Amino acid sequence: MSDIIQLLPESIANQIAAGEVVQRPASVVKELLENAIDAGASKIQLTIRDAGSTFIQVKDDGKGMSETDARMCWERHATSKIRRADDLFNLHTFGFRGEALASIAAVSQVEMKSRRDEDTLGTEIKIDAGTVTHHELVSTTKGTIITVKNLFFNIPARKNFLKSPTIETRHIFDELNRVVLPNPDIEFSFFNNQAEVFKLEKTSLEKRIYDVLGKKNQGELLELNEETEIVTIKGYVGSPEYSKRVRGDQFLFINGRYIKEPYFNHAVQTAFTGLIPEDHFPFYVIFFTIHPAKIDVNVHPTKTEVKFEDSKPIYSMLLSVVRKALGNYTLTPAFDDNRIFNFNTNSAPNNTLISDFTNPVINRKYNPFSSDIQPNVRQDWGKLMEPFRRPEMPPEEEPLPIHQEISNPLPLFPEEEKTGFDGMFQLHGGYIVCARKQELYLVNQQAAHERVLYDQFLRQFEHHKTTVQTLLFPRVVEFNAADYTLVYSLLEEIKQIGFDISPFGNNNFIINGVPTTNEKSDPQLILEGLIGNYRLNEQHLKLDKKENLARSMARNAAMRASENLSVQEMEDLLNSLFQSSHPNFLPNGKPVFIKITVAGLQEMFGR
Ligand SMILES: Nc1ncnc2c1ncn2[C@@H]1O[C@H](COP(=O)(O)OP(=O)(O)O)[C@@H](O)[C@H]1O
Ligand SMILES: [Mg+2]
Repeated sequence: MSDIIQLLPESIANQIAAGEVVQRPASVVKELLENAIDAGASKIQLTIRDAGSTFIQVKDDGKGMSETDARMCWERHATSKIRRADDLFNLHTFGFRGEALASIAAVSQVEMKSRRDEDTLGTEIKIDAGTVTHHELVSTTKGTIITVKNLFFNIPARKNFLKSPTIETRHIFDELNRVVLPNPDIEFSFFNNQAEVFKLEKTSLEKRIYDVLGKKNQGELLELNEETEIVTIKGYVGSPEYSKRVRGDQFLFINGRYIKEPYFNHAVQTAFTGLIPEDHFPFYVIFFTIHPAKIDVNVHPTKTEVKFEDSKPIYSMLLSVVRKALGNYTLTPAFDDNRIFNFNTNSAPNNTLISDFTNPVINRKYNPFSSDIQPNVRQDWGKLMEPFRRPEMPPEEEPLPIHQEISNPLPLFPEEEKTGFDGMFQLHGGYIVCARKQELYLVNQQAAHERVLYDQFLRQFEHHKTTVQTLLFPRVVEFNAADYTLVYSLLEEIKQIGFDISPFGNNNFIINGVPTTNEKSDPQLILEGLIGNYRLNEQHLKLDKKENLARSMARNAAMRASENLSVQEMEDLLNSLFQSSHPNFLPNGKPVFIKITVAGLQEMFGR
């Protein structure tokens, strides 16, 4: 039998490599942007169409390429960034594998124009699925323009694997953020389907963070700056008010490269212990500078993992640097209108009246006219501020809500059924124990509330009937470009949930009214919570818009696990719950209550 092993043709090898490097349009965006930065660009423009599936273009004013290089760069393992193995330990560029362009070209139709400053003419190259179809000298601006069309046109299986345009656009935003944040000295502009999404001028790091992630009015950025022999740590952590229930605004960079490193995330999270609720994540953008010899980025082609020679000392350093910044901040709190601290915690009789302001709850007892009841009290902050408490702080002025339309969203239980409970009490501030028709129920009150709200929001979608609480003072909320695009694409549905909201220029929305389920909470936080949950679901589940919004909003608006309830409130909640077509489970499959029948009890006791 003859020999059967052959070397793969270059075109197939490239396609296989592309499987690792180019997973989706966002991967192309990342590689092209990184190349532009490596080329020393001071201005970079990204343009995409159809979530990048038909068109991605990156234009830079970097050093450009010679005619030969313009041809060479499309070959696999063609790189100008390392020459020998040693260089791997002295990397100062993003790229070094020389794989990206070859991989991209193997699975798309590419066009490039590139010119160096010293050349009068530049080079134009066109490549179709890895084959060069055109090569010509042309006049073009200094720098490089690469256009990637019809990604995966020659691999339909791969194309089908792509998610919805919203999700793919989201991925592109994520990659973009990871590149624009550590490079405030580069001007970036971004066009999506002909519209300019943003233009980021050259600026300071702090300003760039605000420009990209928005949310100026939500707290303060606390600066980190520590230089040691092993590592330099610079950047910002958000003050505790920035923290959110959804992960997302956590950025770690090593030598300018975005990395995912749960171990370091843990260090930052630990520094925040006691300052933010346990289920919240702090906001941070942190840059490590480490000598390239001490790390190995050569772990995966997409390079978000980095291996360290020794990460323990870096962990401890990070922890103490963040603690220090937080310590300085909590000792000298700044007060402004957007802060919602309460210095009269002793006047709040019990924690039913205390709602976490990042986690809206329904507080039926809230009376805006009563001076001893205050919404939005941060219990943990109150404690922290104990030594600095001022005796007579006037309560926060809350706009008085006006009911625009009051309609009972739930059909009432028939009268005779209402009194169907044989007894009920609250256990451990989080569970309702009740007996009804010879059955014992152990109800998770938070889950029950979430279930009831979920049903209500679905009904609102179905019947187009919303209950809106008009705000006396409309609120303008600024989003980052990614979230703005997302909210914009969901605007109709968000209105059906009960938000009275419209675009207000420059990534802003104006909120004139909020769902009645959340009338007591900060409109900005409700909307952000909704969008945060929505994004999270989007990543893990395939849900349609309305289903996702109903779930996200229900989770967002549900009462806290530890809210004390009166008997009347418990009864109301259970009455609503048992109206549900599926009271037993949350939409994610988690149980709402456990039921024990008399027969079941007998069995347990072995009778
Ligand atoms: N925008 C650009 N400007 C100048 N040169 C570029 C640009 N993009 C790519 N190149 C050149 O093409 C080479 C190959 O790029 P790539 O395939 O991304 O590999 P790597 O970045 O790992 O070297 C780079 O090393 C660089 O010399
Ligand atoms: Mg590269």
